[in-house]
Amino acid sequence: MTAGTTSGALEAIERIVDRGRDVLQEVVDVLHDRFDHYSWVGIYLIEDGDLVLGPWKGPEATEHVRIPVGQGICGAAAATGRTEVVDDINADSRYLACFPSTRSEIVVPISHEGSVVGEIDIDSDQPAAFGEKDRAFLERVAELVSSHAARRGL
Ligand code: SME
Repeated sequence: MTAGTTSGALEAIERIVDRGRDVLQEVVDVLHDRFDHYSWVGIYLIEDGDLVLGPWKGPEATEHVRIPVGQGICGAAAATGRTEVVDDINADSRYLACFPSTRSEIVVPISHEGSVVGEIDIDSDQPAAFGEKDRAFLERVAELVSSHAARRGL
């Protein structure tokens, strides 16, 4: 675990995307391993109108492996196509609880050819862990993996 830089992580992710194998799992691993405040990292993919959990990395599995679009913070981001940043999950009635240690969450939609095909979901054990830098970085990561997510999902 290191306190990573976004530019170093972007370079690593560009290399993974160029290589083309197990892209989504490797990107999840990089995000989880390089940033201490990214406690649990997962990618959900749209399948038959639901968000289905794909690759993930974190201390434990989540029970929310299938989330209807529109439900929870994950479902809200998929429905609107806009990033959701929740500084205090206890103050957000949409929150679907996964881990007792989670304090804040960011969900970044992955779009391909105008449609949401999946999303990056990150839970943090720190309150208000996600700032503008995380949002801009993760929205760039979502662009980098979009064609891979489109191939895996639907
Ligand atoms: N908390 C999410 C559910 C997914 S877990 O964080 C892995 C939500 O409210 O949609």
